[in-house]
Amino acid sequence: MDNTLEEAKTILKKYNQEHLLNRFEQLEENKQKELLNQILNIDFDLINNLYTNTKKKIVNNNDKIEPMEYLDKYKLYDDYKYYENIGKSSIRNKKLAAVTMAGGQGTRLGHNGPKGTYDIGLLSHKSLFELLSDSLKEESKKYEVTIPWFIMTSKENNEETLEFFEKNKYFGYQKDKNIFFFIQGELPMVDTEGKILIGEDGLIKQAADGHGGIYESLVKSGMTEKMRQLGIEWVFIGGVDNCLVKMVDPVLMGIAIDKEVTVACKSIVKANPHEKVGVFCKRNGKPSVIEYSEISDDMAEAVDENGELLYGESHILCNLFNINAIERMGKTPLPYHSAFKKAKFIDEKGNLVVPDSPNSYKFEAFLFDAFGEVDDMAILRVKREEEFAPVKNSDKDGIDCPSTARELYEKFYNLK
Ligand code: UTP
Repeated sequence: MDNTLEEAKTILKKYNQEHLLNRFEQLEENKQKELLNQILNIDFDLINNLYTNTKKKIVNNNDKIEPMEYLDKYKLYDDYKYYENIGKSSIRNKKLAAVTMAGGQGTRLGHNGPKGTYDIGLLSHKSLFELLSDSLKEESKKYEVTIPWFIMTSKENNEETLEFFEKNKYFGYQKDKNIFFFIQGELPMVDTEGKILIGEDGLIKQAADGHGGIYESLVKSGMTEKMRQLGIEWVFIGGVDNCLVKMVDPVLMGIAIDKEVTVACKSIVKANPHEKVGVFCKRNGKPSVIEYSEISDDMAEAVDENGELLYGESHILCNLFNINAIERMGKTPLPYHSAFKKAKFIDEKGNLVVPDSPNSYKFEAFLFDAFGEVDDMAILRVKREEEFAPVKNSDKDGIDCPSTARELYEKFYNLK
C-alpha cells in the first residue's frame, strides 16, 4: 500500500487536491484502500476542466438552429394501423426491451430513498417502480411475450433499489432472466474553489454522471451484450419518474422500422410558447434538443402555416433506440454540464458540514446530447394526458409533483 500511497500523493500534489488525504490515517484499512483506488482512477484533468468550465458561460450562438419535422400520432390516419402492425409484429418476435433510468438523486422531490420506491398516494399505494412494472406486464400480456426490463441505478441507490425489488419479489419478474440491474458511472463533486469533496464515509464524494451516462453504462456493464443474446433489436429508454410512461408503443416502433431510423423519440406539444422545457430541433443539421434558455422569444413564438409552434415539440425522456445506435453512442464521450447543488461533506477538521444552500458542483451528461450522433431520427407527437405525468417536485411546488401525477394517473386509468 505504501507505493500506492506515494503515487496518490504525487497525483494530488499535481492537481492541488492534497486535502483528500488529510484524514487518511484515521480511516480503517479497507477504506484507506478504497480511497487510494478512487484517487488512482479519477480523471483529474477532466475534473479540472469541468470546474474551469463552471466559470465560463458557454454559448452556442453560432449554431444553426432549425425546426425538426415530426409526426402526430393522432393525425396518421390510415398510416396508424400500418405502423402499428409493423411494431406489433416486432414486439411479438421479442425484439423489444425496456430500460428504466432510476439512478437520479431526486433532490427536488426530497424523498428519502430511490425515487422509484416513492408512493404517489394512489389508493393502492403502489410505488413508481410497481406502476411501471404493471404497465410493462400488461403490455407483455397483449403480445404473449415477456418484455425484458433493465434498470439503471447509481452507486448511491443501488443497494436500496435491489432490496426493494427483492422485498417485492421483483414484481413477478425473474432476476437475471428477464429483469436486470446495472449501475451507472459517477464523477466527483467539487466545491466552489474546485476542491473535491470528501463524503461522510471518508471517501471521495461522487455523484451519478447524469442520464447521459446511460449509453456508456449499458455497454460497459455488459447489458447491450445481454440484449443481443436475447435477440433484442429495439430498446425503449425512459425515466422512473413519469408514472404514465408508455414503454411499449407499436406505433413508435413501426415508424422507426419503416422509416429505417435508429432513434425514434416521443414529444408532447408545449403547454405554451414559453413553457420552460427543452424542445427538439436541428442543430447544424443534426437532431438535437434546445433548452428554453437558448431560444429567443421570437423563435419560441414562431408558428408554421397551420399555426403550430415551430419549436413546440418537448423532449419528455421517452425514446426508442436501435441497439446499434446505443452501442455507438456508448463509445462516444458526451459533454458534461454542471449543476450547483447542496451536498454534505467532511471539512478539513473532520467535521460534517450540512449546507442549507447549494455549495458544490455535480457534473452530468444529458441523454439528448448524443442525438447529434445520428442523422436519422423520427419524432412522434403524443398526448400529454396519455403519456406524461412526471414526479419531479414536492407537493408544495404544485407542478410536476406527486399530486399532479396522481391526478393524471387516476384520470387516465379511470380510477375515480
Ligand atoms: P432528472 O434529471 O429529473 O433528475 O432525472 P432526478 O435525479 O430524478 O431529480 P433531481 O434533479 O435531483 O431533483 C430524469 C430521469 O433520469 C434519471 C432519473 O432517475 C429520472 O428517471 N437519472 C437522472 C438517472 O438515472 N441518472 C442520473 O444521473 C440522473
